[in-house]
Amino acid sequence: MSIRSFNPPVRTLLGPGPSDVHPRILEALARPTIGHLDPAFIALMDELKGLLQYAFQTENAMTMPVSAPGSAGMETCFVNLVEPGDKVIVCQNGVFGGRMKENVVRSGGVAVMVEDAWGEAIDANKLEAALSVNPDAKVVAMMHAETSTGAQSDIAALVKLAHAHDCLTIVDAVTSLGGTPVKVDEWEIDAIYSGSQKCLSCTPGLSPVSFNERALEKIRNRRSPVQSWFLDLNLVMGYWGTGAKRAYHHTAPINALYSLHEALLILQEEGLENAWARHRQHHLALKAGLEAMGLTFIVKESDRLPQLNAVSIPAGVDDAAVRGRLLKEYNLEIGAGLGALAGKVWRIGLMGHSSRAENILLCIGALESVLGAMGAGIKTGVALPAMQQALG
Ligand SMILES: Cc1ncc(COP(=O)(O)O)c(C=O)c1O
Repeated sequence: MSIRSFNPPVRTLLGPGPSDVHPRILEALARPTIGHLDPAFIALMDELKGLLQYAFQTENAMTMPVSAPGSAGMETCFVNLVEPGDKVIVCQNGVFGGRMKENVVRSGGVAVMVEDAWGEAIDANKLEAALSVNPDAKVVAMMHAETSTGAQSDIAALVKLAHAHDCLTIVDAVTSLGGTPVKVDEWEIDAIYSGSQKCLSCTPGLSPVSFNERALEKIRNRRSPVQSWFLDLNLVMGYWGTGAKRAYHHTAPINALYSLHEALLILQEEGLENAWARHRQHHLALKAGLEAMGLTFIVKESDRLPQLNAVSIPAGVDDAAVRGRLLKEYNLEIGAGLGALAGKVWRIGLMGHSSRAENILLCIGALESVLGAMGAGIKTGVALPAMQQALG
C-alpha cells in the first residue's frame, strides 16, 4: 500500500470542539519555524501573554499557554495546587467534574464530591453545606462550562463562598473562554485553565492557564515538590516568566503558538463583548429553529451555554445513524452525548469561528432533512423561518 500526503475532508465542525479554525489561523501555523529562544519568538511570547490576559480579563503575570491540550491545563492546576493529603471539594455536574476528581486523587489529595444533576448548574447551597462540614478543605474545583451537558455555573458566587472558607479555587473554562463572559480578576478566580480548540477556534493542543498571587504563594510554599516535572510551574516560569532572561525548559510548540497568537488577535479585533454577543445571538437563532422542529434542550434557559446546545434525541431515533448521515451527506459534524448522556443527547456547538449564520442554516436544514427522511416525527417547514426570524 502506498501512503500519500494526508488531505482531510473539509467539514463544518458543530460539535463540542474542535471548532472550525479560521483560515488566518491555519495560515499563521504554516509560517517558518524559528527557535524557541529566538528573540523574535520571545517577543511573540510576550504578546501572547498580553493577549491571553485580555481574553481572561486578568492582570495575572502568570498567564500563559501550557504546551498540551485542555486536560494538561487541568492537570497543571491540580498538580501544582494540591499536595498529598490536601482535601479538595470538587463540584461535579457532568463528565469533566469526574476528570477533576481523578486529578485530585492522582495528586495525592482527598476529593470530597458535591454532585448536581447532569444538565443543572452547580448549586451554591450544596457547596456551602460541604464547606461547612469540611473546614479543613484547601481547594474548591468547579466547572464554569460543563461541555458534556451545556450548563454554565455562577462562578463569581461559588468563588466567593470558597474564599469565605479560606479555600483556593480552580475553575475549568475550557468551553467558556471567548464565548461567554470569563472575568478572572473581577470574579477573583485563583487558578483557571482553558483550551485552544473551542471558542478561540485555534488548532487543538494548547491550554491557556492563569494563576493569581494567592495561588502562586501556595505553589512557592509547597511542602513537597510538584510530582510532574513537565507541569511544575516553578520550572515552567523559567521559560514563560517576564524579562529578557529565559531558559530552556521544553521545546515550545512554535508553530502552534503562532496559531494561538493569531486566534487571540482575531478575538481582540472583534472585541470580547462582541464575541459574547455573537455567540448569544446565534444560540437564539439555533434554538428557535430546533424548538420549531420540536426538539428540546436539556438545560434550562437561564443556565444554558450559548456555545454548546445539548438537545434530547427524539424517541426511536438512531443517534449514530443521524450523525453518520450528517457527516456523509453534509460534511457536518455534531457531537454525541458523553458518559451518562451517551445516546440520549446531541451536542451542537456554535463555538468561535463556527458560530456563523451560514452554519446555523446548514445545521437546521440538514437536521430537518435527515430527521424527516428517517420518519422522526419532527415538524417540517417551520424551522428555517423561525431561525431566520430570530437572526433578524
Ligand atoms: C470542560 C472541559 N474540560 C476539559 C477538557 C479537556 O480538554 P482536551 O480535550 O483539550 O484535553 C474538555 C474537552 O472537551 C472540556 O470540555
